Amino acid sequence: MTISVAIGCRKGGVGKSALSAALASYFAREGRSVLLIDLDPQGNVTFGLGGEPGARGAAEFLKGEEIIPTLLHDHISILAGGPELNSVEVSSLEPEALRDLISDHQLAPEVIIIDLPPYSEHLERLGLVAADQALIPVIAHPFAISGAARIAGLIDARRHRQRPGPSRYALVQSMIDLRRNLDKTLQESLSELFPETPTFGFRQDISVAYSLTEQLPLHVFDPRAKVFPELEEIGVWLNGG
Ligand SMILES: Nc1ncnc2c1ncn2[C@@H]1O[C@H](COP(=O)(O)OP(=O)(O)O)[C@@H](O)[C@H]1O
Ligand SMILES: [Mg+2]
Repeated sequence: MTISVAIGCRKGGVGKSALSAALASYFAREGRSVLLIDLDPQGNVTFGLGGEPGARGAAEFLKGEEIIPTLLHDHISILAGGPELNSVEVSSLEPEALRDLISDHQLAPEVIIIDLPPYSEHLERLGLVAADQALIPVIAHPFAISGAARIAGLIDARRHRQRPGPSRYALVQSMIDLRRNLDKTLQESLSELFPETPTFGFRQDISVAYSLTEQLPLHVFDPRAKVFPELEEIGVWLNGG
């Protein structure tokens, strides 16, 4: 069974792309083939893993063109993000378009990770609907918490209407720095707002940031990065645990 997960939280700068890249690295390190679909017109995760934002990729795939994902590293391929994702053709697609294309193309990676953009509700919906699970990174910022609630609401609504989309989601408290009081109170607000939702942690780690500027998967940049145990917890959950 392919694991497919969309990573989104309406707000920018909450660590969506960093988590997408780090999870890709975690699964690749486990020897599993990963396809990243970068739905951000800025192509941050594409760049962070050594790809070329704006190269033929996610937009062309969405437009139904023949396209082979770019192999960036052992076990990690990508459909690159770029400005073409803002094109009229992409904006007029039905919410289930990406989901249908993935099953039509019989892309057969073991893990599909979809990195969602911050500002486009349309692209966000295309990506969410295409995935069977979702991760919602949050930081201690009111817009991040309201963004998380919107995504959770969208998933709940689709599930309620029995439409295709994620069957479950989890929160990821992102860029945690336990010295900051804000982070401690975030945990409390999240368990009040989302009492039933599993919540994981993804700490602030300089290796995560540097691996992206060095354009290397985390396990190549720093095989002993401190976040691997946290990524493993998320990986086990995505595996159905
Ligand atoms: N766990 C982390 N540890 C260190 N830096 C991080 C971590 N997560 C994100 N960052 C940094 O924070 C910035 C914003 O993260 P990013 O993943 O691009 O956010 P988003 O995709 O939500 O806009 C980036 O510079 C990224 O390298
Ligand atoms: Mg991003």
